[in-house]
Amino acid sequence: MPEVEFLPDGKRVNVRAGLTLLEAARQAKVAVRTRCSGGLSCLMCKVRVVGGVEGLTEPKQAEKAKLGALEAQGYRFACQARVTGAVTVELPEDPLKAAIRAQLKRQQEEEDLW
Ligand code: FES
Repeated sequence: MPEVEFLPDGKRVNVRAGLTLLEAARQAKVAVRTRCSGGLSCLMCKVRVVGGVEGLTEPKQAEKAKLGALEAQGYRFACQARVTGAVTVELPEDPLKAAIRAQLKRQQEEEDLW
């Protein structure tokens, strides 16, 4: 059973070959943002493959069309990529957390000025 690792937390799960990354994430209790649960319409389930790209099925034409330039940067849609071997993927940071981090950084920089 192939192992899937989810970064940045480093959670790992062994899954049956043929499951999607989204299904693997659910088994690992890793939250992947989604609204369509696999319909390739919400485009929220993007993950970046950082290791073992050969451990995933090749993207089909519909996925390639929706990924566009992101494909060259290693992105896949978790609901479309099926696991065939060991793979490591990185989840994007939650947009709310990113906004809070940016605000805290700005505040810290302002405080440093005084
Ligand atoms: S879950 Fe909506 S596109 Fe993948």
